[in-house]
Amino acid sequence: MSESKQTKIAPASGKLAVLLPGMGAVATTFMAGVEAARKKIATPIGSLTQLGHIRLGKRSEKRSAKINELVPLAKLDDLVFGGWDPIADDAYKAAAHAKVLSPEHLAQLKPFLEQIKPMPAVFEQKWVKRLEGKNVKTGTKREQATALMHDIRSFMDKNNCSRAVMVWCASTEAYQEVGPEHATIAAFEKALDENHPNISPSQIYAYAAIMSGVPYMNGAPNLSCDIPAMIELSEKKGVAIGGKDFKTGQTLMKTIIAPGLKARMLGMDGWFSTNILGNRDGEVLDEPANFKSKEVSKLSVLEDILEPKIYPELYGDLHHKVSIHYYKPRGDNKEGWDNIDIVGWMGYPMQIKVNFLCRDSILAAPLVLDLALFADLAGRSKMKGIQEWLSFYFKSPQHAASVYPEHDLFVQKVRLENNLRYLVGEELINYLGSDYTNE
Ligand SMILES: NC(=O)c1ccc[n+]([C@@H]2O[C@H](COP(=O)([O-])OP(=O)(O)OC[C@H]3O[C@@H](n4cnc5c(N)ncnc54)[C@H](O)[C@@H]3O)[C@@H](O)[C@H]2O)c1
Repeated sequence: MSESKQTKIAPASGKLAVLLPGMGAVATTFMAGVEAARKKIATPIGSLTQLGHIRLGKRSEKRSAKINELVPLAKLDDLVFGGWDPIADDAYKAAAHAKVLSPEHLAQLKPFLEQIKPMPAVFEQKWVKRLEGKNVKTGTKREQATALMHDIRSFMDKNNCSRAVMVWCASTEAYQEVGPEHATIAAFEKALDENHPNISPSQIYAYAAIMSGVPYMNGAPNLSCDIPAMIELSEKKGVAIGGKDFKTGQTLMKTIIAPGLKARMLGMDGWFSTNILGNRDGEVLDEPANFKSKEVSKLSVLEDILEPKIYPELYGDLHHKVSIHYYKPRGDNKEGWDNIDIVGWMGYPMQIKVNFLCRDSILAAPLVLDLALFADLAGRSKMKGIQEWLSFYFKSPQHAASVYPEHDLFVQKVRLENNLRYLVGEELINYLGSDYTNE
């Protein structure tokens, strides 16, 4: 692997605005956790930027560094939070509604959370049928995009921020395929002017962010910055984009287990995944059009990891099934069941059962933090367009048109780490070990 040479990275000086379309369970748990870490009430568990170390050089050098000391990342103390939501509840009320955090934690964080009030959202109910909100912008789509750009600027000015990043934490929008109005910047802008029905709110946020020079990361599975127009715009404006759909829960497990089984050349006849959850996200996903966005994002994972075309005898007849059921009593504490029918030596069948009692937003919150900090790093390093090195965080990683997405969590981690090494001029690690073994 080639040597790295140091990239010029602008320092992380000044405040960073972390702007969140959607201030529901994930967003409020994220903001509460950052404040809890700043106050030393809690450790930011699950965050690579806060807890991760990275090996540097050869194993014999015994060098490693904390990630946030190796690369210049914004400090937690320098983060300022803002966002938009069609429901006008402040972050304390929204967090209390979400019931992710204990009353004890909420009481400690109340003075901080209740100051964060959502700005009026770009919202159209046809994209999220199960929601109704009054805190919304009016006007044409073009006017709403302009209003968002104004919000971004005035939030940064008011809070004295030198930079901003945007992470979509809003509800999953109804399924949509790329249309002609998404094909180029010109077509998209014309569609904005014409108030075209195929331009969704998340695309308007993505547009406003990129036009404002603000990196945009999409935490939901809907079509947003992964349309040709946004990719073109992000390249042209020199802005980092990435997505989509935070990799938590069942898909996280899938991308840990499946590469391991494949590495051992074990076959697979089927993978049945089902889960129950009772939060607002679950309620939105109970709507078939919104579930379709999630289903497509979840289903692609196994096919890409197992490569049935290359291994037809192992995975050629795989039955992969995913379902989500809204079940109110469970709240944010999703329970997932996986049954994996695997096949061993001489075709003998075996089964693996995984019962994951997880907490959706507890798993997603550290990803929001890492994505915000790494997106800001990308911005300061002049990295533009799709940030494939952040695939580690996504169920359905956005990738260049010429390649397939990388889903294997451990390959994704190597890619991320090598990107960090590359940025600071450290040697890239290829795990060949030839220096020790004289190969
Ligand atoms: N929690 C996880 O593990 C996880 C994993 C992957 C993806 N996600 C995705 O993250 C998103 C957030 O999840 P959540 O559990 O916080 O959901 P949530 O329902 O608690 O919060 C979403 C918020 O977005 C708001 N909203 C809807 N449309 C909006 C718009 N156009 N502009 C601004 N706000 C809007 C809603 O009013 C709501 O407050 C969902 O799309 C979910 O699918 C979550």
